Amino acid sequence: MQHFTSIQDLGPEGVARILNLAEAWKRSSPGKHLADKLLGMVFFNPSLRTRASFEAVMARGGGSAVVLEVGNGVWKLEDRDGVVMDGDRAEHVKEAVPVLSRYVDALAVRTFAEGKDDAADHLDPVMSAFRTYATVPVISMESAREHPCQGLADLLTVQETFQKTKGLPVTLTWAPHVKPLPKAVPNSFLLTAAAAGCHVRVAHPKGFELRPEVRAEAEAFAAATGGSVEYTNDQNAALEGSAVLYAKAWGPATDGPGGEVRQESWMPGAAQMDLLDKDGIFLHCLPTRRNLEVADAILDGPRSRVVDEAENRFHVQRALLHQLIGTKG
Ligand code: CP
Repeated sequence: MQHFTSIQDLGPEGVARILNLAEAWKRSSPGKHLADKLLGMVFFNPSLRTRASFEAVMARGGGSAVVLEVGNGVWKLEDRDGVVMDGDRAEHVKEAVPVLSRYVDALAVRTFAEGKDDAADHLDPVMSAFRTYATVPVISMESAREHPCQGLADLLTVQETFQKTKGLPVTLTWAPHVKPLPKAVPNSFLLTAAAAGCHVRVAHPKGFELRPEVRAEAEAFAAATGGSVEYTNDQNAALEGSAVLYAKAWGPATDGPGGEVRQESWMPGAAQMDLLDKDGIFLHCLPTRRNLEVADAILDGPRSRVVDEAENRFHVQRALLHQLIGTKG
C-alpha cells in the first residue's frame, strides 16, 4: 500500500512521472480510469479548490467521493495517545480511521497546522495517525507539514509554461497577511521545485525561516536533480531574472525571535513583476487577499497563472489517484 502525504513519498522520479502523466492527460482524457472507486475525504479545515477538484476527479473518472467535515455532522476526532477523552472529541482516530478504511478505496485528509509550535506541527500528528491506522492509501489534501498536491500543481504550471523545470530559476517570496498562516504551501513549493530540478530562491523577512528539516530535504532533492536552493532577506534580489514569482504569506518561526506579521513593503506589485525574466509568470495557491498579500496589478495582469495553477490541481490529482487506485492503463 502506497500513501501520498509528502513529496518524499514520490521523490524526484515520482514527481516527474506524475507531472508527465498529468500533462499528457490534460491533452487527452483517460476516461473512466477510476470506475467504481470510492474516495473518502476527511476535512478538519475548510477548502474550495481542494474539495471541488478531488470530487471532480472522482466523478469524471467514473468513481465517487464521500465527504466528511469533522465536527460538522461528524464526531470530533481525538488523535492524541493515552488521553482521557473527557472533552468534546467523541471518537479516537484509532477506531475512526480503520472503520473508514473498510468503506472506501483511499482516504484523503485535510488538517492544518496549529501554528503555535513549528516543531510539534512538523511531526504532523493527525496525518501521521491516518497513515498509521488506515488500511487503504492516505492522500494529503494539506497537512501541518506539506500541501503536496498543491506543489505538484505549481510545478505542472511551470512545466507547461516553460516546457521544462530543470535549471529554471524560480522565486518563492513571503508576503504579508492579517494573520500568521501555515507553512505547508511554502514548504511544498520549495520541496517540489527542488525535486523538479529548479534553482529555487526563497525570500522572506528575518524571523520567517522555514523549518531546518524541510530546508535539508529540499537541499537533498536539489543535490539529486542538479537544482539548488538559496535563501535571502532581499526580495528584489531574489526576483531579478527569475522565471516565477510565487507569493505566499506564512507565519513567523515559532522558535525564533518572532517577526512582523504585516509588512506592506513585501506585498508584490507591478514593480516586482518587472524584475522577472521577460517571460516570467506569477503563481499563488489561492485563496489570496487582494491588495494585502498580492496587488490587483498582478492578479489582473497578463502574467498571472493562478487560475491555470488551480485547474492543474485537477490534473495532478487525476494522475495521482490513477497511480494509487486506478482501474485501467
Ligand atoms: N489551494 C488550496 O488548497 O485551496 P483551498 O484551500 O480552497 O482548497
